[in-house]
Amino acid sequence: MPQSVYLDMDPGHDDVLALLVALASLEVEGVTTVAGNQTVDKTGRNARRVLDIAHYKTISVHGGSAHPLFRPLVTAGHVHGSTGLDGYQIPAGLRHVDIAADAQAWLASEFSRHSSGITWVATGPLTNVAAFLMGHNHLIPSIAQLVIMGGALHGGNITAHAEFNFYVDPDAAHWVMTSGIPIRLVGLDVTHQALLSPQALDRFAGFGTEVGHMLHDLFAFYFEHEPHASPQGTPVHDVLAVAAVVHPEFFIWRRLHLLVERCREDRRGQVIIVPEEAAPSSVEVAIDIDSERFFKWMWEVLISRYAADPIV
Ligand code: BDR
Ligand code: CA
Repeated sequence: MPQSVYLDMDPGHDDVLALLVALASLEVEGVTTVAGNQTVDKTGRNARRVLDIAHYKTISVHGGSAHPLFRPLVTAGHVHGSTGLDGYQIPAGLRHVDIAADAQAWLASEFSRHSSGITWVATGPLTNVAAFLMGHNHLIPSIAQLVIMGGALHGGNITAHAEFNFYVDPDAAHWVMTSGIPIRLVGLDVTHQALLSPQALDRFAGFGTEVGHMLHDLFAFYFEHEPHASPQGTPVHDVLAVAAVVHPEFFIWRRLHLLVERCREDRRGQVIIVPEEAAPSSVEVAIDIDSERFFKWMWEVLISRYAADPIV
């Protein structure tokens, strides 16, 4: 029986890959969406459409925060386009979908059904997650682990010092990092090591299904727009958070106390390591990845679920 998870995301090309791999390797209980790569109406619609295209119509999508906790929204149209999923033409029948804007209430009712053991995966700005933790203290014990794509110990991708998800809502990221909840943090330190090669496009097209066609068109666009894409390949950030749930042994983890910069605008969203705390931190940071094993697993998962012919 696969492990069950809740997903919080802002699709977004790499969120789509994360969602498809999660659907094929885990038991996805539902999806909440947040503003980040695009506005929350678009990220919610994108999640719904991808679920419908992949034939997961019964998995529900719940819209969350439309903007960061205390700041105006910054989106990533330069990477994901004006729809959040530019490059792929949504089939006509799926262009108009409605998403309930009830993420906080839905999460509360779901999490109150479990006294423990929840795995929550967040691959967008941490606004929904932080707001939930602030408002539902009594439900925190039900969360066994929070696996997050975000942050970087070194460097950044939206500024020289910050990763996009932490930059967009640094207040939320700081709240979550210091919450004491068991966290696995998958940041740019590893996502910039695991590059999807340009040959992936032919492989996606070779699936011979609508999902394969969608992945081909989405990633053809993404290869052109992801700032760290090169002829060697492109980072595919969010799917590594899913890999960290299913195969934490693909990574090397280091336990660190972290803060997130919220005051200095030029360092906004930067991860700050706190030296020498007496108590062990609840945050484990991925500092290295076996990319070969990760990609071998990712392709097996995708091909087994989404290819018409298993030999692609
Ligand atoms: C993160 O930012 C977004 O653009 C991606 O979806 C990913 O979650 C990478 O910095
Ligand atoms: Ca994302």
